[in-house]
Amino acid sequence: MTQFPRKIIIDTDPGQDDAFAILLALGSPAEIDLLGIVAVAGNVPLALTQKNARMICELAGKPATKVFAGCDRPLHRKLVTAEHVHGKTGLDGPVLPDPVMPLQEQNGVAFIIETLRREPAHTVTLCPLGPLTNIAQAFLQAPDIIGRVQQIVLMGGAYFEVGNITPAAEFNIYVDPEAAEIVFKSGVPLVVMPLDVTHKVLTTRARVEAFRGLGCEVGRVAAEWADFFERFDMEKYGSEGGPLHDPTVIAYLIRPDLFKGRHINVEIETKSELTLGMTVADWWGVTDRAPNALFIGDVDPQGFFDLLTERLGRL
Ligand code: BDR
Ligand code: CA
Repeated sequence: MTQFPRKIIIDTDPGQDDAFAILLALGSPAEIDLLGIVAVAGNVPLALTQKNARMICELAGKPATKVFAGCDRPLHRKLVTAEHVHGKTGLDGPVLPDPVMPLQEQNGVAFIIETLRREPAHTVTLCPLGPLTNIAQAFLQAPDIIGRVQQIVLMGGAYFEVGNITPAAEFNIYVDPEAAEIVFKSGVPLVVMPLDVTHKVLTTRARVEAFRGLGCEVGRVAAEWADFFERFDMEKYGSEGGPLHDPTVIAYLIRPDLFKGRHINVEIETKSELTLGMTVADWWGVTDRAPNALFIGDVDPQGFFDLLTERLGRL
């Protein structure tokens, strides 16, 4: 039985779909106790992701949320960004006011370490929605916290859908494969939301109109974000909407019954130029490598959107 509310840290690179995840968490206080949001460089550089995270909290009417800035580049590589998907600001679409709530002075990696040392062991879940740089840095700097993490529920990787930033790799893993390798080998219980599941939660017209139909500011902005980024994905995939990747992580915490997956071994490719950042998922159990992740493959898409829409409506 899941104990609610679950204490979580969201690690993120907003990103319109990251914004949906943050709003879903902020709209679900009975299930989610959001200890803090840590920004990472990913979709756009850190200066923008930390600012975007604060804009999202203010949109939700939650300016007391603690927002930290973490790492501004991957562990060993040059940052790759995704303005081609998310626009120049990372949150293109509706125009939002610049945030007035402060950025916390403490470094985001230090916040992760301190929180895991302070809270009772196995009571804090990490929710990475971007490259895994901050989490890997925290594990490198403070290996004592690794055994204290309750769970990591992350968006990243792919198996049947393979890649979105290269033919072989999903963006979050590709940007910092060495960080991903540290996380996947850490021994922390992992739940992975790969493209295989996120490509099943599409922002169809009816679903976007349901956001708009909420009749509140959050609903209007959410609909405009969806309108913005789905143009890119609909053209790329020929689908009837864009995949709403990151809120699957928060939805899983609230309603795990909406998802199905397999407990399997997942390794990260860090060497090959051709397949760098690939999540090599032993979906069919053809190796004897030990399972290290619950790799989600299926979702009830309408159940997911009903939950998301209802929670946006609470903000
Ligand atoms: C992931 O990459 C980012 O562009 C999205 O925010 C999501 O986290 C999807 O591959
Ligand atoms: Ca993201």
